[in-house]
Amino acid sequence: MKANIPDDNIKEVPVATAPNPAPSRRTFLRSVGLGGLGFGIIQAGCSGKDKPATGAKEIIQGFEETPEGEKVKGWVSISDRKIRMGIVGYGVCKFGAAFGFQNHPNVEIVAVSDLFPDRCAELAKACGVSKTYPSLEELVKDDSIEAVFVATDAPHHAQHCLEVLKHGKHVAVAVPAVFGSLEEADQLKEAVKKSGLTYMMFETSVFRSNLYSMRQLYLSGDLGEVVYSEGEYYHYMPEPIDSYKGWRIGLPPQFYGTHSNAYHIGVTGGSFTEVSCMGMKSIIKDFDVSANAFKNPFATEIAMFRTSEGAMSRMAVSWDTPGDHGERGRIRGQRGSFYEKYEGLGQELPDLGRPGLPEGVAAGGHGGSHGRLTDEFISAIIQDRSPMVDISSALNMSVPGIVAHQSALKDGELMKIPQF
Ligand SMILES: NC(=O)c1ccc[n+]([C@@H]2O[C@H](COP(=O)([O-])OP(=O)(O)OC[C@H]3O[C@@H](n4cnc5c(N)ncnc54)[C@H](O)[C@@H]3O)[C@@H](O)[C@H]2O)c1
Repeated sequence: MKANIPDDNIKEVPVATAPNPAPSRRTFLRSVGLGGLGFGIIQAGCSGKDKPATGAKEIIQGFEETPEGEKVKGWVSISDRKIRMGIVGYGVCKFGAAFGFQNHPNVEIVAVSDLFPDRCAELAKACGVSKTYPSLEELVKDDSIEAVFVATDAPHHAQHCLEVLKHGKHVAVAVPAVFGSLEEADQLKEAVKKSGLTYMMFETSVFRSNLYSMRQLYLSGDLGEVVYSEGEYYHYMPEPIDSYKGWRIGLPPQFYGTHSNAYHIGVTGGSFTEVSCMGMKSIIKDFDVSANAFKNPFATEIAMFRTSEGAMSRMAVSWDTPGDHGERGRIRGQRGSFYEKYEGLGQELPDLGRPGLPEGVAAGGHGGSHGRLTDEFISAIIQDRSPMVDISSALNMSVPGIVAHQSALKDGELMKIPQF
């Protein structure tokens, strides 16, 4: 199944600015053991505007620095090794420099890239390096680079990660892992498995404090078997946020379902097995089927999933409903529930504090997730272990939305979801 995605014929929209089988509970536990998973700010995405009319500096939604509201664990240096990194992509979200790689004690940024020379130069400045390449395809040929952070446009994530892996480098990538293509999901899974290299998707929800707490409570058994979960990513966009070649114009909501899906998959480490999803024709003009490259009529899609544990999960993504917004979720198990706090049968609860960070690395935006994702990726390489949101979890968070959108186009037909 390959979705219609914006292609090169679409005009550029000016921008202002270790292989794993689907994890069993035990393997998931092991992979989390050294890093942990991961709420604070409930806005996500980017505004797409650099300069507001008022002249005041506008903060891109989701990128606000998050004060640490809770006690965090201390950070302990595990090595003096510096991972030699390449950073690619400085689009509207300026993601290439937003995760603190440039400040991490175990990272040396060797070079950066963006297709636009001005963005490439800005990224180099933000990362404090002088070496630049005109494209990811050129950067990956640099033998001195061990790992690459791919912060390019979503439709190219899979292709770009395949390119990085082909050149023998570890890869971290912004969400989603794949964009509308089940074939690319298979290719990516195979490539990571064959390479033995570290692959991590930077799903920001997993290090939000509420999801992090849910996960610890699941792992300690205090939630019990999960019966029901729900998650939302609500982001009102009457006009699409700018994007490279317009990939956000008419974007099928569930193609971008990782932030909500993480509120189940990122807690249990399981997967969604089938889905019935519904949409409603949007009043926003870009969601006229003739107005977008996806032929997509929906700006809100509500998915009902069956999970690999036999549980039920409702995941909502909406672009056309103003008001309450953000990325969040809740979970109900046979021993307890988590609705911003734990209530249940558990008496001696685990430590819910999120991992600490090296000096100089800010927790950053999206609920204090940025720095923690970076630290997790770098630590996983150094410790030669599976990272949080490895290839299986990344695909189990990304792929269900592709099938969910197909289900919505078929008025809620129940459809099977490939398992990773
Ligand atoms: N909470 C979150 O996790 C979150 C929030 C916002 C954005 N994102 C993700 O971050 C990514 C970046 O978002 P954005 O809004 O900045 O994207 P964008 O579309 O504005 O910019 C993408 C950039 O990638 C560059 N690029 C594309 N192909 C390239 C190549 N081959 N070599 C070098 N550079 C290349 C483009 O020149 C462009 O500047 C997206 O994938 C988006 O999904 C995630």
